[in-house]
Amino acid sequence: MRILGIETSCDDTSIACLDSERGLLACQLAGQADLHGRYGGVVPEIASRAHLQAIDPLLHLTLEEAGWALGDVELIAVTQGPGLLGSLLVGMTTAKALSLRTGAPLVGVNHLLAHAAAPQLPDLAPLPAPCLTLIVSGGHTELVLSAEPDHYLLIGSTVDDAAGEVLDKLGRELGLGFPAGAAIDQLAADGDPSRYALPRPLLHSGDYQFSFAGLKTAALKAFGLLGGPRQKGDQRLMPDPAAPPFGPADLADACASIQAAVMEVLAVKTLRAAEEHGVAAIALGGGVAANSELRRRLAEGAERLGCSFHAPPIAWCMDNAAMIALAGWQRYQQHGADGLDLDPFATWAWPAD
Ligand code: KG4
Ligand code: ZN
Repeated sequence: MRILGIETSCDDTSIACLDSERGLLACQLAGQADLHGRYGGVVPEIASRAHLQAIDPLLHLTLEEAGWALGDVELIAVTQGPGLLGSLLVGMTTAKALSLRTGAPLVGVNHLLAHAAAPQLPDLAPLPAPCLTLIVSGGHTELVLSAEPDHYLLIGSTVDDAAGEVLDKLGRELGLGFPAGAAIDQLAADGDPSRYALPRPLLHSGDYQFSFAGLKTAALKAFGLLGGPRQKGDQRLMPDPAAPPFGPADLADACASIQAAVMEVLAVKTLRAAEEHGVAAIALGGGVAANSELRRRLAEGAERLGCSFHAPPIAWCMDNAAMIALAGWQRYQQHGADGLDLDPFATWAWPAD
């Protein structure tokens, strides 16, 4: 079956052409980091406008790369949520118009289930069951157990900030731009992770919850970037005058220390859960799944536990339409098509015990 995937849930416009027999044929992405960078986060109004401008040319480019005409499309898979409503509407309206024009059935895709399906890319090989999946991105930190395909149970999540969110917030304070996860990963390679002693929040909590909000304050204090006097009404962080000045030479050590703290908590708790539940496979999805240390720690841990480890190629960790096409195809096989009255949703929670 020839599936067209459309993703516009946040700040990346992406279109993919997936052939269920031949695999992924094309996946194009138009990012918006340049537009949002100066605001230090995604501005919803700017995001939906940029999707609107990007989606048409991107569609034509992707079809051309796959060698498809519009009439070749047999299924249209579109992100339904969770995400920014204004952004989701651009993708959904496009998908509905294409479905009307071509007669191809439409299927709405849950963005988080798509991140969980991404480790099956690009060859579409099903993951062994039971499988434990860590979804970790700028908006999510969730540990889900899947005893059989399409059945997920939430066993842990963050009680405050997502892991990617704390990397992005700290990166912003360190002048690394937005989003900062990839830059922290790169700089950390030349840094000393033991230079700054940072906490490992909830590492020994006895459950699978995560908490990253306090880590940001602890890190800024450790770097001496917090604690100085502020002018009334001034929102800027003031360096602690008593601390040694933080300079460019300290940046790599700071990144290595942040990365070590975040990835240790994620990996240790994921591996503990994998052992407790006796899973056959550990999978990783979401933008932070691109992190080299997290991948290394989980791959080593999975080998120790005797289970397989599945992480998407770096390009498919971040938001992309290839995973939407794949999850849409799987959903269509199980539940059939959706109607043109399909509505987007902003939030969604994994089924829990
Ligand atoms: O899945 P995604 O593209 O969008 C969301 O749904 O949030 O994930 C983006 C997140 C950002 O927080 C970004 O800093 C993080 O993924 N990220 C990384 C790396 N590459 C991207 N975090 C750690 N290491 C990386 N190499
Ligand atoms: Zn995502």
